[in-house]
Amino acid sequence: MKKVDVVLGLQWGDEGKGKVVDLLTPAYDAIARFQGGPNAGHSLVFNGNKFVLHTVPSGIFREGTMNFIGNGVVVDPVNLMDEIHQIEKISSCVKDKLLISKRAHLILPTHRMLDAASESAKGKSKIGSTLKGIGPTYTDKTGRNGLRFGDILAPDFEQRYKALKDRHMEILSMYPDFTVDIEEYEAKWFAAIEELRSYKIADIEFILNDMLIKDASVLAEGAQGSLLDIDFGSYPFVTSSNTLAAGACVGLGVSPDKIGKVIGICKAYCTRVGSGPFPTELFDETGEQIRQAGHEFGATTGRPRRCGWLDLVALKYAVMMSGVSELILMKSDVLCDLDTVKVAVAYRKGDELIENYPMDGGVDVEPVYKEFKGWKCPVSDIRNYDELPAELKEYISFIEEQTGCPVKIISVGPERDANIMKP
Ligand code: GDP
Ligand code: IMO
Ligand code: MG
Repeated sequence: MKKVDVVLGLQWGDEGKGKVVDLLTPAYDAIARFQGGPNAGHSLVFNGNKFVLHTVPSGIFREGTMNFIGNGVVVDPVNLMDEIHQIEKISSCVKDKLLISKRAHLILPTHRMLDAASESAKGKSKIGSTLKGIGPTYTDKTGRNGLRFGDILAPDFEQRYKALKDRHMEILSMYPDFTVDIEEYEAKWFAAIEELRSYKIADIEFILNDMLIKDASVLAEGAQGSLLDIDFGSYPFVTSSNTLAAGACVGLGVSPDKIGKVIGICKAYCTRVGSGPFPTELFDETGEQIRQAGHEFGATTGRPRRCGWLDLVALKYAVMMSGVSELILMKSDVLCDLDTVKVAVAYRKGDELIENYPMDGGVDVEPVYKEFKGWKCPVSDIRNYDELPAELKEYISFIEEQTGCPVKIISVGPERDANIMKP
């Protein structure tokens, strides 16, 4: 029997999950998203073109692989249909390669409104949500009010939609300064639902478990990052789902003993988009240099990403919480002009030395840094580990030693083939 391998982000999202999943897809029979929704933006670069996926798994451009949207995902039909139409411009038979769980929850137009109303009411303490309706949809899921994908096939779907919409309108009326404007979006939403009725909507948990019994291979694709996890991230500045490896079990319907490799993705530095603590954030020229060199602007919202040094306190926590078995290190090419590269090995708060990622995500802590000599040479064209500069190899060894995880791949550019396999 095969097991499900998991790819997940170990920081605050945007680690390069899309690129990695696309790279690994030829080795798998199915790629399955298990949480999140259109708040995700996963970039794939091949044949000189960049493609950003939000809800559709990152295996969609490869032939011969199925793509599952699991029950743990929240789906906005408008967003999903737009995305499918874009994919169809360069890839054939999308409909045949895509399966949507009957149990995946639907993001209603009013969920988006609730997200926006809640954020604007929070003022300065806003989360910095992508405003895709993620929080309100998961709230309805756990509050047992939600609508699921399988419901779109029921004869009373419109009545049930209306009942939930009315409920939302009542809540929205409590935000007197907020204008509710959904008519146009609602029309598109129903048109998208109509189109999606002809897609494969299935009990994915049975299909996946049957595949494993028949020795087919499955890769679960995480969205967001470990430090945005609803339970273990820097709460309340988090997303509303479990982004850790455990999320793959409940987000797909596979038992914990069926999880195989856990592949953790991290950048050679850190980025964060939206609000919340970020102990190693750089507010100086170096931060700006990393942002420009790494094109650190949100794939979903276009917002500039906050940039900072690698944080081993946070990374070790993420590795522990998901049982990461191997690492993939992204974007070391971005740091190639720096004289010095720093890594946080602990935090300090007053006289206290903090080595374990704290409950508040590190508010008002001072990072304790270890400094490394920069590699000061371009690495984007290197494909052989032996040819990497000694300074970068030393940096990689330190990450391996600290996390206890081997780095298996070093990504040195956005393109599909810009990778070094570490022996
Ligand atoms: P995801 O959400 O984890 O899939 O990551 P995003 O796609 O939001 O952000 C990662 C960005 O970095 C994208 O623009 C990728 O094309 C780009 N990228 C991925 N790997 C590398 C790399 O090794 N080097 C560089 N320079 N860019 C990379
Ligand atoms: P991928 O999959 C980076 C952040 C938002 C905000 C917080 C809550 O591309 O790595 P939400 O819309 O979920 O209510 O936002 O989480 N966020 C992400 N940051 N990458 C993402 O996805 C993110 N998805 C959500 O910026 O701070
Ligand atoms: Mg992203």
